[in-house]
Amino acid sequence: MIIHVLGARPNFPKAAPVIRALDDLDAQQQVIHTGQHYDRQMSDVFFEQLGLPTPDVNLNVGSGTHATQTAAVMLGLEGYVIRESPTLIVVYGDVNSTVAATLVAVKLGIPVAHVESGLRSFDRSMPEEINRLIVDRLADLLFVTSPEAIGQLAREGVAPESIHFVGNTMVDTLLSRHQEFDVAAATCDLGLVGPYAMATLHRPVNVDDQGSVARLIEALHSVADLIQIVLPLHPRGRDRLIGAGLDNHPRIRVCDPLDYIQFLSLVRGATAVITDSGGVQEESTMLGVPCLTVRDSTERPITVTHGTNRLVKVDQLVREVKAVIVRPMATEWSVPPLWDGKSGKRIAEIIVEWTRCRGSLDS
Ligand code: UD1
Repeated sequence: MIIHVLGARPNFPKAAPVIRALDDLDAQQQVIHTGQHYDRQMSDVFFEQLGLPTPDVNLNVGSGTHATQTAAVMLGLEGYVIRESPTLIVVYGDVNSTVAATLVAVKLGIPVAHVESGLRSFDRSMPEEINRLIVDRLADLLFVTSPEAIGQLAREGVAPESIHFVGNTMVDTLLSRHQEFDVAAATCDLGLVGPYAMATLHRPVNVDDQGSVARLIEALHSVADLIQIVLPLHPRGRDRLIGAGLDNHPRIRVCDPLDYIQFLSLVRGATAVITDSGGVQEESTMLGVPCLTVRDSTERPITVTHGTNRLVKVDQLVREVKAVIVRPMATEWSVPPLWDGKSGKRIAEIIVEWTRCRGSLDS
């Protein structure tokens, strides 16, 4: 039996295609939700919209410091894993639930498969970078989304036979749903008329510190002088951003977190995306929408070399938005290799074959 551990919003579109493809191969599987994300708009709406199975268990760990949250997942998960004794635990991305589940699994001698392996920002001030390093060090099956991740893992000493270049499962989800992305309906719901930039900003580096927040808001207000901005606010930083006057500009539209279809419909219709998210860099690339990532580094360089992504500093944001308005770059991008909607199927086939070879396939 295979256990998938999911916890936070970006895990959900990555896991759905893998779970579906394993189902098609009649694999026996369970889904554990750690409860790292728990608001309906951060979790339930994704399970419903992406056709994810209702979790077999929810650990309800909620929010906390990194140690508190990671430890809570470990404590909640350990007993369950001992009882169920899975043949493999599948973890996704780089959130705290991912690293916690990996630690529990390896200490119980249960193999781990990591979906979205080998991404590196080389910035250890990001909690996600620490999580990626630990998980990739310990995982038995490493599924990578882009070729440079193979070299990175090899440099870190991962055995080549453990690394599988399969493409991007989040892209599977996007391609399977893109017919439903309805720009007219999504803009109409918000009463939006005319061109707009779509923004998402929630990284600690941008929203946890008062000085960074002030600089960000100043830049966004200047951008809004050029083009209206839609900004669904992640709970992290929401109060600080609003308190510092984010929406004190008539052309900044702040709203609650959106569901998957609403959000990607708005990305598809946007003149530009302004973000610090990881997944949104990839989704913008797939939709051919210019993406300005307000960070010093990206763990997803393929979105810059192949896609529509560009790293920008806060004080360059207005200039870059102006440049995109004058000259959209939508013709100068290509879809990264194997981002073709078949990654979940590739992963499922490898997992089933791998468990069969270990003589432990119980489905
Ligand atoms: C987490 C991930 C990050 C990912 C992001 C996507 C880690 C270390 N970080 O960051 O990589 O980009 O998810 O969303 O795992 N909160 C709510 N409701 C919720 C969830 C969170 O109000 O459903 C609030 C709480 O105040 C919480 C804060 O958001 O303290 C941060 O949540 P947390 O899960 O710790 O990290 P994220 O910033 O969401």
